[in-house]
Amino acid sequence: MTQKFTLNVNGKTHSVDADPDMPLLYALRDELGMSNPHFGCGLAQCGACTVHVNGQATRSCVTPLSAVKGAKVTTLAGLGTPEHPHPLQAAYVEEQVPQCGYCINGWIMTAAALLKENPHPTDEQIRKGLSGLKCRCGTHMAIIRAVKRAASMA
Ligand code: FES
Ligand code: FES
Repeated sequence: MTQKFTLNVNGKTHSVDADPDMPLLYALRDELGMSNPHFGCGLAQCGACTVHVNGQATRSCVTPLSAVKGAKVTTLAGLGTPEHPHPLQAAYVEEQVPQCGYCINGWIMTAAALLKENPHPTDEQIRKGLSGLKCRCGTHMAIIRAVKRAASMA
């Protein structure tokens, strides 16, 4: 049975009628038309669907709507704008990271949460913080460079 959910996404309030078990990813993409979080595995194993829930990097494919009542959700589009990009968004462009681009949402959202907690991580801390994310195009070295570049802007 559906219920009415009020979601705060990127500072705006949205209303969604959905099953409480609906993954947040489906609500964002299919109900609210937000295309940044991607469906990859649907099993919390690739990270393509990552958003922030109250500032924490969260895999939205396995997060039911019932778990985000009253929470503040941020997507990649809420991190920055083309005019005022988040340092990671700027660094990904400068380092020319994306190839197909499918995975990039997850890497940036996860790294953004990491840099918020630890603005100047070591290489090892970056690798550990981003472990579990998948990129089939093999952009990993460029990603590490971009995260370091973003950290140097802080
Ligand atoms: S789609 Fe959510 S972790 Fe892969
Ligand atoms: S850039 Fe293609 S999967 Fe990562």
